[in-house]
Amino acid sequence: MRVEGVIVREARPDEFSEVVRMIGEFRLDYENLSPEHFIVAEHRGRLVAFGRLKPYPDCTELGCVGVVPEMRDMGLGKLIARELIERARRRGLPEIWITTDLVGYFEPFGFVPVQVEEAPRSLREKIARFEGTVRSGIRVMRIVL
Ligand SMILES: CC(C)(COP(=O)(O)OP(=O)(O)OC[C@H]1O[C@@H](n2cnc3c(N)ncnc32)[C@H](O)[C@@H]1OP(=O)(O)O)[C@@H](O)C(=O)NCCC(=O)NCCS
Repeated sequence: MRVEGVIVREARPDEFSEVVRMIGEFRLDYENLSPEHFIVAEHRGRLVAFGRLKPYPDCTELGCVGVVPEMRDMGLGKLIARELIERARRRGLPEIWITTDLVGYFEPFGFVPVQVEEAPRSLREKIARFEGTVRSGIRVMRIVL
């Protein structure tokens, strides 16, 4: 981490409109947005990063990892991803999935690319809705916990 004094905690409903605004700005997954799925990073009283574990009927996806532009490349995205993985582990989830165009970013955490045909149905359907509209080159990755 290249920044001191960062607190990671659950998102509060009163700050959630700010998270939703950034999700739109960063072209992230805007479906089924619910504050209780999200964690945030706070620095000097300001919300600087966020991410979520998104539940589906057939799997859980780590997603919506976003960092305010002026604080990128300081380790905040990694902090959020690591914390979400740890929370999934503590919950006893067997695995988590990601749909992303940033394969190289998520590999170091242990996520491995998977053929889209092998992904849970809900993720295949999600990719069909997002590919080429919200983002391009979306791949599926999985980590076994
Ligand atoms: C992607 C994002 C979350 C990364 O967060 P961040 O806090 O800037 O990144 P971190 O500081 O945690 O990690 C930086 C490292 O990741 C690498 N990295 C950054 N973007 C990358 C990418 N697109 N592909 C591969 N590696 C990447 C950097 O080179 C750096 O490597 P280093 O640690 O070896 O120097 C952030 O850029 C962001 O919010 N982007 C817009 C939203 C987005 O695209 N989210 C991901 C959607 S799946």
